[in-house]
Amino acid sequence: MRPLNSGTCGPLRGKTDLPGDKSISHRALMIGAAAVGETTISNLLEGEDVLHTAAALRALGAEIARDADEPGLWHVHGRGVGGLAEPARVLDLGNSGTGARLIIGLLATHPFVSCLTGDASLTARPMGRVAEPLERMGARIVARSECRLPLAVVGTSDPVPIEYRLPVASAQVKSAILLAALNTPGRSTVIEPVATRDHTELMLRHFGADLAVAELEDGARAITLTGQPEIEGRTVRVPGDLSSAAFPAVAALVIPGSEITLAGVGVNPLRAGLIETLGEMGADITIANRREEAGEPVADITLRTSALRGVEVPAERAPRMIDEYPILAVAAAFAEGTTTMGGLAELRIKETDRLGATARGLAASGVEVERDEDALVVHGTGGAPEGGAAIEAGYDHRIAMAFLVLGMAAKKPVRIDDGTVIDTSFPGFVELMNRLGGSIVAEGEAP
Ligand code: S3P
Repeated sequence: MRPLNSGTCGPLRGKTDLPGDKSISHRALMIGAAAVGETTISNLLEGEDVLHTAAALRALGAEIARDADEPGLWHVHGRGVGGLAEPARVLDLGNSGTGARLIIGLLATHPFVSCLTGDASLTARPMGRVAEPLERMGARIVARSECRLPLAVVGTSDPVPIEYRLPVASAQVKSAILLAALNTPGRSTVIEPVATRDHTELMLRHFGADLAVAELEDGARAITLTGQPEIEGRTVRVPGDLSSAAFPAVAALVIPGSEITLAGVGVNPLRAGLIETLGEMGADITIANRREEAGEPVADITLRTSALRGVEVPAERAPRMIDEYPILAVAAAFAEGTTTMGGLAELRIKETDRLGATARGLAASGVEVERDEDALVVHGTGGAPEGGAAIEAGYDHRIAMAFLVLGMAAKKPVRIDDGTVIDTSFPGFVELMNRLGGSIVAEGEAP
């Protein structure tokens, strides 16, 4: 346990890079492991979640090494599509739902048995959503009650292509099917009624796979992958993680006199719902220097302190900003007026029940909130909230970071019981925030 305290600070100023995108880092490693030859990845996120994925892929026979010369530079020697080997031990995916669900997909069409587990948070999360389509493809998933980890994947030697309509908007489920489809003869199709992050599609294309996306009459997207392609190693530069950028971004908006630039951040439109929402709240945001890296849009984002106002966030936007609700709710606490957020049922089955944890943390910080099963309403006052809360981060990095940001601009400091969990997605968070002008200190250490 590493308790952290964050208190009122002066303006945030400066320009910074961000650690690599977590979603893209997982995919670069996994697809690199399924390609023939060498993949070189720069700015790979060296957070716990991604390191667990790297370790699991090594146990499956891929050669994966960190370059000694440059932080974030990694080399993967892939085994080719269908070429992973039976692991000799249980694969531990730590805290990572993405790592677990995507690897289950990859393994479903490899003809051997693998066992997976994770930490106390991950072993409580539902895996039935991936097991169901993967069993239709021929795999068998033998799991604990409610299809939770630990579980065994009995991969099929005779996979069948499927057409599958996602019953829940989930990029993890879509990606698990596409990764299983990599080693399935013929064409597999995933239909998503609501578009979710398309990093798997972009990365598969970047590696040379044959992937087609069609818009159906009802507005749904049909993604078709032709299986068993010859994919070859590539160079991948991972963009900065917009979901990590969200924390300094909101801090700069609510701390008086701030102006920061977040450089090289991924701005994939299927991830950028928070930028849109903050814009509607009156945030002063400039997006410059748009470019593309490994098929992903990237830009530099400048934010200045802004008088925010409450808005109604449309429920359909939730998949494009699903990980950003805790920090958006913090921004809403500083805004003038009410912010209404709907379509949040999925938030309850993240690393923790994020809907509950966000509502409890805000209430403990003196903010008026209402919540039900899938909605959150925050009544902002246009001023600094009381703060002074003691927050249990549980196993949730984003809850920890969101409330540390609240503490930076609230009237009284906020305490997080354990900051170590932040390393799952944002190693160096405290140092980065303090470099910009923040005041987050480990309990018992001098500021
Ligand atoms: C992710 C998809 C989202 C998101 C998670 C990362 C991904 O989960 O919450 O942090 O990389 O595919 P769902 O697929 O459950 O929505």
